[in-house]
Amino acid sequence: MRIWAQDLRIGHGYDLHRLEPIGPDGQGRPLRIGGVAFEHDRGPVSHSDGDALLHAITDAVLGALALPDIGQMFPDHDPANEARDSAAFVREAMRLVRQRGFEIINLDATVVLERPKLGPRRDEIRRSVARILEIDPEQVNVKGKTHERVDAVGEGRAVEVHCVVLIRKLGPEG
Ligand code: C5P
Ligand code: MG
Repeated sequence: MRIWAQDLRIGHGYDLHRLEPIGPDGQGRPLRIGGVAFEHDRGPVSHSDGDALLHAITDAVLGALALPDIGQMFPDHDPANEARDSAAFVREAMRLVRQRGFEIINLDATVVLERPKLGPRRDEIRRSVARILEIDPEQVNVKGKTHERVDAVGEGRAVEVHCVVLIRKLGPEG
């Protein structure tokens, strides 16, 4: 397979959600990272399900194609997006990737989260993200990082995600 540099596009995505207590004490929704549910006393404040990893991935994919961003495509004042499974945003971004004749080469994300540790469930998250993107888990990497107890993220009051994705335009032979 020959890949021409002009057929490659890189995308970057970033997201942050405030983490608040779950239940009657706060506005937090159950914590989900890459479509995987985590037991935690805090969860994201969000119009959708608040899956910050899936939001950053959506923006990275849309960004690689220079398309409007997640907030423009799926406004947070639209009742249709209330408590919505964020996998739907990723799937729509991927539909546009395929429609334009591109495929993902690989994706790498860093989830900045004081607790819980993501390492033990890393492969589960990779598989979940790969399933949503309809690619191989080998093309997906996800890693956790603390914020060293500094600032809001380090105090466990927010989760932050950085993501890059590389896509390529398919040739006539696919
Ligand atoms: O942030 P720090 O460098 O102290 O994190 C050490 C390691 O702990 C990371 O490289 C990662 O392997 C793991 N980690 C994790 N989940 C987190 C935070 C850190 O798996 N939420
Ligand atoms: Mg978000």
